[in-house]
Amino acid sequence: MIDLHAHVLPGLDDGPDTLEGALELLRQAYEDGVRVIVASPHAGDGRYETHPSEIRGALDAVKARLEEDSLALTVLPGMELYLEGDVLKNREDDELLTVGGLGRYLCFELPTTSLPFFIEEILFRVNLRGYLPMIVHPERNVEIQRDPSVFRSLARHDAVAVISAGGIMGAYGRRAKKAATELLRMGLVRGICSDAHSARHRPAVLSEALRAVEAVVGSTEAARLAWDYPAEILKPLELSRGP
Ligand SMILES: [Fe+2]
Repeated sequence: MIDLHAHVLPGLDDGPDTLEGALELLRQAYEDGVRVIVASPHAGDGRYETHPSEIRGALDAVKARLEEDSLALTVLPGMELYLEGDVLKNREDDELLTVGGLGRYLCFELPTTSLPFFIEEILFRVNLRGYLPMIVHPERNVEIQRDPSVFRSLARHDAVAVISAGGIMGAYGRRAKKAATELLRMGLVRGICSDAHSARHRPAVLSEALRAVEAVVGSTEAARLAWDYPAEILKPLELSRGP
């Protein structure tokens, strides 16, 4: 499986505080069957303003330990930007870290209570800067919950939806679960993320969510959501499904 968004780097945001905590999460992901994980700490959400250089530094430390432990887990860089106003306006390209550092998709979270005014214009500007929007856990947004088909207008700007494990499993309530289910049925979802923060409270586990996804779209499509579509987002990387 590929986990397209998780807070698994130490000391940067509300993810793990220590390197040991980060490794615990990454081992948990590996044991669950995850072979590729995008480490995307919060950035620009009013609480955390994480710089790409800090993310790359923390990632290097984590990777060195994974190598020592011979854990065949690919950890890629990223950042989770808060989608409001003109999110990219005050950010130069070197202040942005795309999904996997590949220069294509930027990872965004939506506010939970409303959609930003002129969201299409914001996404249009994201496109103008040469990026594609990957929107994580859209099912937690109240307006998407009210009418999941709203996401179609975002998809006009090549936005892809990545639902969260907690969302599809009901951890964020019935409405979020229903929205995630409908987004899946509409074919707007291109991946699943753990949105892991801690091994106990929000774990790096996707397998249970995948079973819930299977129940909605069947096993063939669920397998694509677990690997093929995310691998498409991470092109041109050649990813190993590993042992
Ligand atoms: Fe997140």
